[in-house]
Amino acid sequence: MTWQAQVLTLYPDMFPGPLGHAIAGKALRDEKWSLETANIRDFATDKHGSVDDTPAGGGAGMVLRADIIASAIDNAVKKAVENAPLIYLTPRGKLFDQMEAKRLASLDGAIFICGRFEGVDERVLKARQVEELSVGDYVLSGGEMAAMTVMDAVVRLLPGVVGSAKTLDEESFERGLLEYPHYTRPQIWEGMEIPEVLVSGNHKKIAEWRLDEAKNVTRTRRDDMWQKYLATNPQLSEKDKK
Ligand SMILES: C[S@@+](CC[C@H](N)C(=O)[O-])C[C@H]1O[C@@H](n2cnc3c(N)ncnc32)[C@H](O)[C@@H]1O
Repeated sequence: MTWQAQVLTLYPDMFPGPLGHAIAGKALRDEKWSLETANIRDFATDKHGSVDDTPAGGGAGMVLRADIIASAIDNAVKKAVENAPLIYLTPRGKLFDQMEAKRLASLDGAIFICGRFEGVDERVLKARQVEELSVGDYVLSGGEMAAMTVMDAVVRLLPGVVGSAKTLDEESFERGLLEYPHYTRPQIWEGMEIPEVLVSGNHKKIAEWRLDEAKNVTRTRRDDMWQKYLATNPQLSEKDKK
């Protein structure tokens, strides 16, 4: 089954962009997923191709019109797989995370709406039951790179896209922890050695070391994740809880 992405944007030429390279690009060529863009401007109704207007109530910038966005959405929905959610990328949305990437990967596709200017008229979001996702607490100039970020995170979770499913199992966020540090040859670099346990060949010890390091890095860098990990793993030793 091909995971079907549709993107509504004023800049269709930006796609596939980075998604045409490396893992996502190979998956696209292998038809593990498909990508279709629609130019929002094609849904304009006047001869100037206007898609935006001044904000009601005054103020800076322009707002994408509800009627234009609705036409673009309705056209995309006609072609979409049945359970494809409508997703508007916006700093006001729910923060995108690995759980959300998994949810989207478990569906058959999604329709992404990329905002520009001050954003989209609120009424269309309500009328078409659009979900809102943010890629972080900062403001981008458009939704395109946010949509690409979401798609990249989703595509690598699709079956057969990343070579070994084991690679995904131990990645950051998978167990509620950030990932342990990695090393590779040369054995000694600028006087620093690869930790001895990693060259010991003792797989049980290596797994224990990696889990300890994952706990350490999470505890020191992400207290929010660490507190959640503690709460969901009550069997942890006193040493871990410190
Ligand atoms: C300049 S921004 C508009 C910001 C909006 N006026 C606000 O303050 O929330 C233009 C578009 O970029 C996209 N965008 C900006 N930051 C984003 C973020 N953190 N996550 C997802 N999309 C974002 C949205 O599609 C938005 O409509």
